[in-house]
Amino acid sequence: MRILSIETSCDETAVAILEAVGDRSSAQFTILGDALYSQIEVHREFGGVFPAVAKREHAKNLTPLLRAALVEASMLSESPNEGVEEKIGALLEREHGLKEQLVEFLSGIAVPDIDAIAVTRGPGLEPALWVGVNFAQALSLVWDKPLVPVDHMEGHLLASLVKGNARSFSISQLHFPVLALLVSGGHTELLLMGAWHSYALIGRTRDDAVGEAFDKVARMLGLPYPGGPEISKLAHPMRTSPSTMKLPRPMIGTPDSDFSFSGLKTAVMYLVKDRELTHTDRCEVAREFEDAAVEVLYTKTARALEENDAKTLAVGGGVSANLHLKTYFSEHLAQEHPAVEVYFPPEGFTGDNAVMIGIAGFYRAQEGEFMQAGTVRADGNLALER
Ligand code: KG4
Ligand code: ZN
Repeated sequence: MRILSIETSCDETAVAILEAVGDRSSAQFTILGDALYSQIEVHREFGGVFPAVAKREHAKNLTPLLRAALVEASMLSESPNEGVEEKIGALLEREHGLKEQLVEFLSGIAVPDIDAIAVTRGPGLEPALWVGVNFAQALSLVWDKPLVPVDHMEGHLLASLVKGNARSFSISQLHFPVLALLVSGGHTELLLMGAWHSYALIGRTRDDAVGEAFDKVARMLGLPYPGGPEISKLAHPMRTSPSTMKLPRPMIGTPDSDFSFSGLKTAVMYLVKDRELTHTDRCEVAREFEDAAVEVLYTKTARALEENDAKTLAVGGGVSANLHLKTYFSEHLAQEHPAVEVYFPPEGFTGDNAVMIGIAGFYRAQEGEFMQAGTVRADGNLALER
């Protein structure tokens, strides 16, 4: 099965083409085409992601990315295609010139040899999600291909299970129950997966997501967006000696699986307020903040592993790229929960991308979860639990 996938939930615009051979239990994936454009430079000027700006950037870049993915997959062949505009109809009319651009492109190429189109339906920034959803619906109508809506967080979860190299991989066989810690710019949650596609939300942040806290603390330290990798860079060299500061570990001891990161962020604000920080000071703050965030994430995760007798832990989302998090989790789990299988996404699979949406789309397509073009609605608050 060949799947074209589209991701536009936040500040990455991405289109991928995946080939999946086998069924749910044995699937082998090959990336045929993968085109991604990060809007980071655009958002850096504003210090964060603004939905209207993200929407405009997605609209501008989706068609060129589609072309690039098709070229890479050797699926682009020039040939007139009649009636494209009529088939798209009223879709994409509010998407900043995207309709005109897409009509022109699709009118000159043959229908590619794909079996389905997967698209992120949510969660994320709703105006940004809509661009991808409508783009996918337009392609589905013009090419007469089935549409599979995907949950972005399920994409992150599956990305953590990728096993193989950058072009060809499989998904690790799971031993249930699986505990998933999903940590990104918009989410911090613990989900219990009792079986494939069966999720229970057992904990989440009550305020800021951990990635958001990284981004805000970075800003207080004068570092560019996105803050996670910047904090990590400053913190790393400080780990050869003990921390000289003390920040709180919010909710670390509460008898639940929830998190809170806004108090930690505020504590950093008071720490740096009205102070001239030297470079070393900034490194110390970054280190203590990273320590505090990771300790809370680990302690709550370990507690949930025990409480739910989980056999597997999958950590996914942008923050799972954090080196200290990976080291801390791996060392502590090896000591305290040696029987638990632990998965982190391979390099290139931590942040947002379309390949993970294609993987999730494949498994959903196996369940026959197709939707009619024109009926898919973006949902900024989509949740995996059901
Ligand atoms: O999953 P993602 O790419 O987008 C969302 O769905 O939100 O996650 C982005 C978040 C940002 O907050 C970014 O600062 C954080 O992931 N991040 C990191 C690291 N790399 C990215 N946080 C900590 N350490 C990192 N190395
Ligand atoms: Zn994400």
